Amino acid sequence: MILSLDQGTTGTTAFIFDADGQLRGRSYSEFPQYYPRPGWVEHDAEEIWQVTLKVSAAALQRAGIAATDLTAMGITNQRETTVLWDRKTGEPVHRAIVWQCRRSAGICTELKQAGAEAMVRARTGLLLDAYFSASKLSWIFRRFPELHHRARAGELCFGTVDSWLIWRLTGGRAHLTDHTNASRTLLYNLDRRQWDEDLLGLFDCPGSILPDIAPSAGIFARTAADAFLGAEVPIAGVAGDQQAALFGQGCIQPGSLKNTYGTGCFMLASAGKRRPLVPEGLLTTIACDRSGQPQFAIEGSVFNAGAAVQWLRDDLGIIQRAADTESIAQTIPDTRGVYLVPAFSGLGAPHWDAAARGSIFGLTRGAGRAELVRATLESIAYQSHELANLMAQALGVELRCLRVDGGASANNFLMQFQSDISRLRVERPRQIESTAVGAALLAGIGVGIWESERFPESLQDIEQDFLPQMGELQRRALLDGWGRAVAACRSYRA
Ligand code: G3P
Repeated sequence: MILSLDQGTTGTTAFIFDADGQLRGRSYSEFPQYYPRPGWVEHDAEEIWQVTLKVSAAALQRAGIAATDLTAMGITNQRETTVLWDRKTGEPVHRAIVWQCRRSAGICTELKQAGAEAMVRARTGLLLDAYFSASKLSWIFRRFPELHHRARAGELCFGTVDSWLIWRLTGGRAHLTDHTNASRTLLYNLDRRQWDEDLLGLFDCPGSILPDIAPSAGIFARTAADAFLGAEVPIAGVAGDQQAALFGQGCIQPGSLKNTYGTGCFMLASAGKRRPLVPEGLLTTIACDRSGQPQFAIEGSVFNAGAAVQWLRDDLGIIQRAADTESIAQTIPDTRGVYLVPAFSGLGAPHWDAAARGSIFGLTRGAGRAELVRATLESIAYQSHELANLMAQALGVELRCLRVDGGASANNFLMQFQSDISRLRVERPRQIESTAVGAALLAGIGVGIWESERFPESLQDIEQDFLPQMGELQRRALLDGWGRAVAACRSYRA
C-alpha cells in the first residue's frame, strides 16, 4: 500500500494505492487562502501540515488500513510556494508566500533593470518573475531584516512545500527537497544540478537555509512515529506536482506532452537528457526519467484556470459546485461575444505580464450567468491553446494529441472545446489524478515494489478521447476575439 500526498494550491488530497495500482482510499480537504492585499496570496504552513495529517488519516481509514501497513509514501506539491521556518522550533516565521503572489514583482523588475535576466535564464531555465521562490525570499528578508539576520546565523530553514512536509513528517529530522522542486526556485543551476552561489548572492539568500537535493525516487527519510500516525513510513518519492503528473501520464520519452487542469494549467513536455533550446515565453525545468533521476522538460504555465471557476463559486456565488459549470455552459450555443481573461495574478506564459488584471469583455444586457460561466471555461482552453502553440514550436513538430489530467479535465464541455479550439485529439485517462499517480509510482520505484519499466497498466488507461468538431471559420473568429481580449486586458493598468 502506498500513500500518495498531493498538496495542491487550494487543498490537499491523500490517495492510497495498492500494488496493482487500484485506488483503495482517498480524502480531500481545502484549506484557507489569504489575500491580504490585491495581488498577494498567502497560506499558513501550519494549516497545510494539519490538513495533510487529517486527510492522510481519513484516506487510511477509508482504505481500512493503518499507517503501519504502508510500504511507502510519495509527496507531490504545489511548487514555488515559499516556506520559511525556525530550525529549532519547527514553527513558520512568516506566512507561506504562494506561487501566485505578485508582491515581489518590483524586486524582479529591479534585477531585470540591473541586467541580471540573461544570466538567470541561462542558469535556471526560468525567467525573472515573481512566480518563482527566490524573489519571494528576498522580499521577506528585505521587509524583515531580523529574519535575514537569523537566516545568516543558520537559525532558519527554507523550503518549498515538499521540504516543509518532509520536515514535519520526520519530526524535524530531515531538510530535503528533490531536483524537480529545486528547479523552480531560481536558485538552482540546471546544468550543474545544484544550488548556485551566484544566484544565492543575487537574491541575497544565505546558503545555510537551503535543503539538500535528492533524486525524485529513493528513500528520502522515514516518518517519525510521534509525528505521523504512529508509523515509520519511508518517504520514497517526491516531485513537484506538474512533473509528477508528467511522470504519472507516462510522458517520459522526449516530446511526450501533457496538460494538467488544476488551479492553473501547466503543459509540460519531456525533453530527455540534453538541455533543449526553448523559445522565449516557455521555461526549461527538471522532470524525471524512468527511474526518477533528473532529466529536462519544457514547460508553459498558465496561472489561473480552475482558480477562475473557484472565483465563480466562492466570490461571485453564481455556481454551487465547480462540476455544475459543464451543464450551465451547455445551456447556450456560445458566449455572445463575452470573453473573460482570468489574469487574477497577472498572465503567465506566453505573456509574462505581472501587472495584467483579470478582465471581462463584450458584456451586453443579454449576457448573464451562463455566458460568464461558459466564458470562464473557454478561457481555460484558450490559454492552454496558447501554450500548445508554443510547445509545438519548441518541439519542432505539429501536435496531434494532448494528454490531459487534473480536476477540470473531468469537464466534458471544456475538453471538447479544447479539442475544437486547438484542433487536437484530447486524451483523458481513467485516473485523472495523474499528479498523485506520479508520486505513487515514484514512491513505488523508490522502495523497489515497481520496476520503472513496468507500471500497473490500470494507472494510465485512456478513458475517453475528444475529437475536433468545430468549423475552421468559427474557430478562427473565436481565437481572434480571444487575442483582442488579451490585448485589451494588457493595455489596462490598475
Ligand atoms: O507551479 C504551481 C503549480 O505547481 C500549482 O499546481 O495543482 O496547485 O494548480 P496546482
